[in-house]
This record gives sequence, C-alpha cells and structure tokens, in this order.
Amino acid sequence: MRYDGCMHVIVIGGTGHIGSYLVPRLVELGHHVSVVCRGNRSPYLEHGVWKRVEFLHFDRAGEEARGTFGERLAAARPDVVIDLTCYRLESAEQLVEALRGHIAHFLHCGTIWVHGPAIEVPTTEDTPRQPFGEYGCRKAAIEDYLLGQGRSGAFPATVLHPGHLVGIGWNPLNPAANFNLEVFSRLARGEEVLLPNLGMETLHHVHADDVAQAFVRAVSCGASCAGQSFHVVSANALTLRGYAERMAEWFGAKPRLRFLPFEEWRQHFPANEATTTWDHIVRSSHCSIEKARRVLGYAPRYSSLEAVRESVSWLLQNRMIQRL
Ligand SMILES: NC(=O)c1ccc[n+]([C@@H]2O[C@H](COP(=O)([O-])OP(=O)(O)OC[C@H]3O[C@@H](n4cnc5c(N)ncnc54)[C@H](OP(=O)(O)O)[C@@H]3O)[C@@H](O)[C@H]2O)c1
Repeated sequence: MRYDGCMHVIVIGGTGHIGSYLVPRLVELGHHVSVVCRGNRSPYLEHGVWKRVEFLHFDRAGEEARGTFGERLAAARPDVVIDLTCYRLESAEQLVEALRGHIAHFLHCGTIWVHGPAIEVPTTEDTPRQPFGEYGCRKAAIEDYLLGQGRSGAFPATVLHPGHLVGIGWNPLNPAANFNLEVFSRLARGEEVLLPNLGMETLHHVHADDVAQAFVRAVSCGASCAGQSFHVVSANALTLRGYAERMAEWFGAKPRLRFLPFEEWRQHFPANEATTTWDHIVRSSHCSIEKARRVLGYAPRYSSLEAVRESVSWLLQNRMIQRL
C-alpha cells in the first residue's frame, strides 16, 4: 500500500452502471485506476477522466476457466480490488486465493436480494439471510464466504449491497416493478395503469452515483470495515402505488391506477414482465442505511424519486418515453 493516500485500485467490470460513476470518482480523488472489462461497451457517461484510466482488457470467464484470473490481477499489483461482477462462489474463492496477502482491501458488490421476503422493516444487515432464487442464493453464498474471510482476518473483504440501480442511460425499475417503459408513458399521458394487489408492496432504488459514493467511502475506510456488509440504497423505499402517483403528478397528469390481484394482473402482461414484477414484489425490499451512514459516512444525494426522475428525464429527452 502506498502512504500518500493515492492507491492503485482495480475495478472489475468498471464500465457498467456502477463503474460509470465509480471510476471517475476514484480518479478524481487521485487514485490510479485500472478497469477490467472486455472492451465491449462504453461507460454510460462521457467524462474526460476515462483517458487517465488503464484498461485491462480480458475476459473474466475465460481467465477463470483457465484458473488465471486472480493471478493476472495480482500481477498488476493493486492496493485495492473492487469486484462489481462476481456471481459465483468459485469466482470469489479464486480471487481470494490469488490476492491473499497481496492487497490492503477487497470490496465486493452484493445485492439486497441476499435477503428473502422482508420481515421487520427496514431490514438491517444483521437480519439472518433467507435468500431464494438462483441469483440471491449465489450472492448470499459469496457474501457468507467473504465476510467469514474478513471476520477471521484471513482476507480484508467488505461487501456492499445496492438496491435497484438507477442512473442516466438505462431504464429504472418502474412502478409496476418491471422494466417496461410503457408504464411511464401511460402515467405521463394520464392513461390507466394496472398495478398488482393493492400497490402497497415496496421497491428500494438507489442512484448508481450513490453506490459509487459508498464504494469510495469504503475504500477510504480501508480494512477497518473488513468483515462487514452494508446496504446501499436511498433513504426510503417506495410503495408501487405511491411511486406511480408521484410519477404521474411529476408528468403533470392525473394518476389513473387500477388494482388487480397478482394472478389476474399477470394475465395482462407477457410472462417475462410478470416474472420480473413478481421477483420484486415478493421480496418487497425495504432496507436500512443506518449502518452505512454510521460506519462509512454514507449520505445518499438522491431520494428514490429524485433518482428515477433524473433517469426518466433522460429517457424523455431521448424519446424513449412518449408523452403524446
Ligand atoms: N442491476 C441492479 O439493479 C443491481 C442491483 C443490486 C446489485 N447489483 C449488482 O451490481 C453488480 C453489477 O454492476 P453493474 O450493474 O454496474 O454491472 P454492468 O452494468 O452489468 O456492467 C458489467 C461490467 O462488467 C464487464 N464485463 C461483463 N462481462 C465480462 C467478462 N466476461 N469479462 C470481463 N469484463 C466483463 C462489462 O464490460 P464489457 O462488456 O466491455 O466486458 C462492464 O464493465 C453485480 O454484482 C450485481 O449483483 C445490480
């Protein structure tokens, strides 16, 4: 580790939703940043600092299959590694074994879906995990492994759990808890929108720049926050109904909502859309950020609605939401 406050930070998957905000923040703080990606896509936001980023263009899946991914990262001699794209326990294990003893801090991007259906809300980080579904179960297994490593002092791992990511350049999760932009268009035109059940199930968004803020704060905290996990969401979750009403009002329209029991509601939509909705409402995420505030100094700039409105403004400008 260097002692001038400037570190070599490797961000695995640094050109996506979170990386587009995180990498510029790290560079602006004076860190030397390397990004691992295949070079298939550009960051969502243009920013001059990308010229100062070193790109390590390789395919994680291929390197992992050869057992060389961790070694390649270790060879770049990072102080800190931020892993935004780990979805399997074996991937985490391979990295830990290769990086153990070589780095000062390892940060893994988790998800609030390590929790099953909410019980006492807001859900805190110490709530026993009851994940379901392949994605949530895999991410929970990774978290369990990394926090075990961190708590035992074997490896300095910290886990951050974002909510539903929102930012400029992609569709936010809508008030029907799926990604169909027509829901926003209908709200904007004052047309009827169908919502499942009573619309009282919850979503917990977060602006990707607030996720970036949390990662930067965790990097500053260093290994003192190893062995711990943190929710990274906006200050408050939204009910589907409240979200739909507020968005309609923001568009200058009168909300026209109709509610149907989920099984009836789903008959009106394609199966994949209904499944996305179900996956979100069955969890009805509503997480506490008290621990992230207290330990990391996390202070989200965006409420859920502010984050979504910024994203929707961009979608309107790019004619992806039709007001007329
Ligand atoms: N989406 C959500 O709402 C949400 C919510 C909670 C948590 N999360 C967590 O957020 C993380 C994902 O972050 P994100 O949404 O910012 O990622 P993302 O937008 O999906 O971006 C993926 C990044 O990884 C790179 N990449 C993909 N496949 C690769 C490969 N085989 N080898 C090397 N690089 C590869 C991509 O660049 P190239 O394509 O150029 O390689 C890109 O930089 C995950 O850990 C997920 O569990 C997401």
